[in-house]
Amino acid sequence: METRIEVGILGATGMVGQNFIKFLENHPWFDLKWLGASDRSAGKKYRDAASWHLGGEAPDSIAGLTVEESKPGNAPRLLFSAMDSSVATEIERTFAQAGHIVVSNSKNHRMELDVPLLVPEINPDHLRLIPGQQRKRGWKGQIVTNPNCATVSVTMGLAPMKQFGITRVIATTMQAISGAGYPGVPSMDINANVIPFIGGEEEKMEQETQKILGEFRGDHIAPLDAKVSAQCNRVPVVDGHTAAISVEFSNKPSQADLRHAIDEFSSVPQQRKLPSAPAQPVIYMTQTDRPQPRKDAERERGMAAFVGRLRPCSVLSYKFVALTHNTIRGAAGAAVLNAELMHSEGLLD
Ligand SMILES: NC(=O)c1ccc[n+]([C@@H]2O[C@H](COP(=O)([O-])OP(=O)(O)OC[C@H]3O[C@@H](n4cnc5c(N)ncnc54)[C@H](OP(=O)(O)O)[C@@H]3O)[C@@H](O)[C@H]2O)c1
Repeated sequence: METRIEVGILGATGMVGQNFIKFLENHPWFDLKWLGASDRSAGKKYRDAASWHLGGEAPDSIAGLTVEESKPGNAPRLLFSAMDSSVATEIERTFAQAGHIVVSNSKNHRMELDVPLLVPEINPDHLRLIPGQQRKRGWKGQIVTNPNCATVSVTMGLAPMKQFGITRVIATTMQAISGAGYPGVPSMDINANVIPFIGGEEEKMEQETQKILGEFRGDHIAPLDAKVSAQCNRVPVVDGHTAAISVEFSNKPSQADLRHAIDEFSSVPQQRKLPSAPAQPVIYMTQTDRPQPRKDAERERGMAAFVGRLRPCSVLSYKFVALTHNTIRGAAGAAVLNAELMHSEGLLD
C-alpha cells in the first residue's frame, strides 16, 4: 500500500466534514486535497468558510485551501461525503455519474437496493453490489454508504451474536447532541433533559439494521429476517451514542457462549490490518456500570464498539448495552474505514 491516494470531502465545512478533516490528518494512504461545500462557502479559504467546532484548530495544511463548489471538475476521484441530506441525493449522484467514488455518510442512498450499506467488520461482501450498481445506472463511479450514527452501535453490538439466529431486537438509544450537527438541539431544550424523539431515526435504525445484517444475494441484500423495534432519545451527552438492547435468538446460546462470541469477534479489517480498524472491534467491559460515553467513547480512536451488562432478559433472550462514538465510528471514521476496505479490495485502482 505504497501509493498515496488524493481524496476530497463534500460538506467539508460541517460538523461531520470537520471530523473527516481531523480523522484524515496523517492518514497513511489518503491525502486530503479538495474541499467542497455550498455556494455560501465556495471561493473562501477554509479557515474563513468554516467555524471549527472540534478541539484545537483546523490543520494548517487545510485551513489555507480554498473551498470549491460541489460540482465535478477538479475534484479527486475518491470523495467522502458529509453533505446536508437535503442536497446530498442529487449532488452525490452527479459525482458518481461523472466517475467519482462517493463514500457517503448521508442517509440519502443507504436503503437503495444496489447501494452497499457497509460496516467492514460485518458485511464486507456487500461491496459486491457495486458492479450491478454501475451497470444499472450507467455509472463509471459509484456510491457506497455507512450507517446512521446510532444504528452502528446496535449492529456492532449484535454482529458477534448473529451466528445464534437473531429473531427479535428491541433497542432503546441515548444519543449525543453532536449527532444533530451544529448548532443542533437548542441548549434550553437539552440541558438537564431528555427528548424522546429524533425525527426519522427509529425507522432508519430498524431498516438499516436488517440490511446491514442481511445477506448478499447477487443483485440485492436479503434483509435479516428479524423484527427490530427502536426507540430513540436525545440526551445531554456531547459525544457517544448508547443503546440498551434486548435480543432473542432461535438457537438460544448460553451467556458464556455469547461472551466468547463477543471476545473472539474479528473480521476482514482486522485480518488486513486496515489503518483505521480497531484491533478488537467489539470490546466487552466487565465493570457493572460500563460502557459510559464520557469514559469510553473516545477510546481506540473512537473506532471500537463497547459492550457491557450482558445478562438474561425476561422478555427476549438476553439484554446488554452498546456504545459507539457517533461522529467517528458513526460517521467520518466509518466512511474512511469503508474506503480502506475498498482499497484493500483493489476497488480504488
Ligand atoms: N452529526 C453526526 O453525528 C452525523 C452522523 C452520521 C451522519 N450524519 C449525516 O452527515 C451529514 C452532515 O451532517 P453534519 O452534522 O455535518 O451537518 P452540518 O454541520 O449541517 O454540515 C452540512 C454540510 O453540507 C454543506 N451544504 C449545505 N448545503 C449545501 C449545498 N446546497 N451544496 C453543497 N453543500 C451543502 C454545508 O456547507 P456550508 O457550510 O457551505 O453551508 C456543510 O458543509 C448529514 O447528512 C447528516 O445526516 C451526521
